[in-house]
Amino acid sequence: MTIEVRRAGVGDIETLRELARAIWFEHYPSIISRSQIHYMLERGYAADVVAAEIARGVEWRLASVDGRACGFAAWEAFGDRVKLHKLYVQRSVRVGGVGRALVAATAADAGERGARLVYLAVNKRNRIAIRAYVRMGFAFHRAMRIDIGHGFVMDDYEMARPVQASIRRAFSVRPVG
Ligand SMILES: CC(C)(COP(=O)(O)OP(=O)(O)OC[C@H]1O[C@@H](n2cnc3c(N)ncnc32)[C@H](O)[C@@H]1OP(=O)(O)O)[C@@H](O)C(=O)NCCC(=O)NCCS
Repeated sequence: MTIEVRRAGVGDIETLRELARAIWFEHYPSIISRSQIHYMLERGYAADVVAAEIARGVEWRLASVDGRACGFAAWEAFGDRVKLHKLYVQRSVRVGGVGRALVAATAADAGERGARLVYLAVNKRNRIAIRAYVRMGFAFHRAMRIDIGHGFVMDDYEMARPVQASIRRAFSVRPVG
């Protein structure tokens, strides 16, 4: 199985949206309500939202396995930190290294720009993702509860890791809050 990761641009927006829709409705119903899934997909993946993000410098990466698009990541640099906004892989190819390849590509690009830390937010009930993040060197930093409007909240952990995952930092390895 050949995994490829490449930069995604405006021409990939429909592919990214289709992947997001499929992955969110497969993965999140046990974690958040369907109405929250609809709301967050519209908020995060409407074509104009993605296009505006690309224009302002959010970096999107598209992963494929044997030539078929199967996952994506999006990240943004804030000084010496990079926020991994999104990391999604189709269920059929999970635990096959695609998520790790997307994180490695993010860390490599971020490192080239002088970033030292990659951080992200993950729903506290998203055990699959949390396990994968821990395996990829992320550690718990803090708990966050963010009001995203329309009566919905994001009940998350912030996790972080050094861009070079071998560098150890003083983050807790247990959930906080
Ligand atoms: C989180 C996610 C992106 C990981 O992608 P993936 O392609 O399965 O990840 P990889 O195969 O590269 O695995 C990376 C590491 O995590 C481990 N891992 C992945 N899924 C795991 C699981 N369910 N349980 C235990 N370990 C897991 C892998 O074994 C691997 O560790 P290793 O290389 O040390 O053996 C994927 O599960 C996903 O898309 N989940 C649904 C959407 C989601 O929740 N995204 C995150 C939003 S914050």
